[in-house]
Amino acid sequence: MSKSWVRHGYEKVARILKKGNPKRHNFPILKGHPAAQEHAEEAVETHDTIRNKSKVLKEFKIYRWNPNHPNNKPYLQSYFLDLSNCGPMVLDALQKIKAEEDSSLSYRRSCREGICGSCSMNIDGTNTVACLRPIGKDTSKPTVITPLPHMFVIKDLVVDLTNFYQQYKSIEPWLKTKKHPEDGREYRQSPEDRKKLDGLYECILCACCSTSCPSYWWNPEEFPGPAALLHAYRWISDSRDEFTEERLQAVTEDQRRLYRCRTIQNCTAACPKSLDPAGAIHKMKTKHLLSQPMELAGSL
Ligand code: SF4
Ligand code: SF4
Ligand code: FES
Repeated sequence: MSKSWVRHGYEKVARILKKGNPKRHNFPILKGHPAAQEHAEEAVETHDTIRNKSKVLKEFKIYRWNPNHPNNKPYLQSYFLDLSNCGPMVLDALQKIKAEEDSSLSYRRSCREGICGSCSMNIDGTNTVACLRPIGKDTSKPTVITPLPHMFVIKDLVVDLTNFYQQYKSIEPWLKTKKHPEDGREYRQSPEDRKKLDGLYECILCACCSTSCPSYWWNPEEFPGPAALLHAYRWISDSRDEFTEERLQAVTEDQRRLYRCRTIQNCTAACPKSLDPAGAIHKMKTKHLLSQPMELAGSL
């Protein structure tokens, strides 16, 4: 990785933050996105630590498992990187390791901008997307990177998301209507109704929330998980959709679906996009309970 590319990465973060000590600034561009704000502050702190130093070594311990050697147990492999010659995010470190040290390391990534949701993994005990997670400035401790928890591992940091995507598909994530649009062309929505989808449509399906949810760990088949439920609520909240009742029924007819959520809120704490799946689930439960006769609502 060239020095100019690395400098460009840091300069980009500094430019976004308008330079200087981020803690003394209000960052309009990150308004409403506390996770991004926190991550950007960390990135600049790390940058300050390594600035003017010729070499800063940091250890990365990365989970390794190869399906070609199924009898070999998974293990953590150590890599040492010079941070003065590496981009600011954990994904940059992975890219550098793969490009320069060990091409056999496997992980997913695509956009490196927090948009595609591919690079989700567990970093130092927290589920997040590696491209939005800055490398910690403390070089006395290693950064430990493992796959998303409670998932089947395909290789190294790549997990099997088949069940996760099937659960997303099961909530029918598309507009469902009973009649043609009035103008014969498109289903219109007022700005006020469109605003009701804020905080729901931004989900990048990274699975950080579902794989941090204890209810999902113990019931991965029956419980759709917070990501799929957030999307169910996104379509229930859409003024143009005409299948609200049916959608509510689909997530509630089996007690192991919506009501398996125990409001632990790990999902909201984990979301790298600062969304609130637990809040969406709570609102969906309220909407459902209000639609039930009193005697039935009490038993749910
Ligand atoms: S609030 Fe519900 S969905 Fe979120 S982590 Fe807790 S049990 Fe899982
Ligand atoms: S709600 Fe957040 S954590 Fe969950 S899948 Fe969407 S973006 Fe990822
Ligand atoms: S690479 Fe797309 S979210 Fe990280």
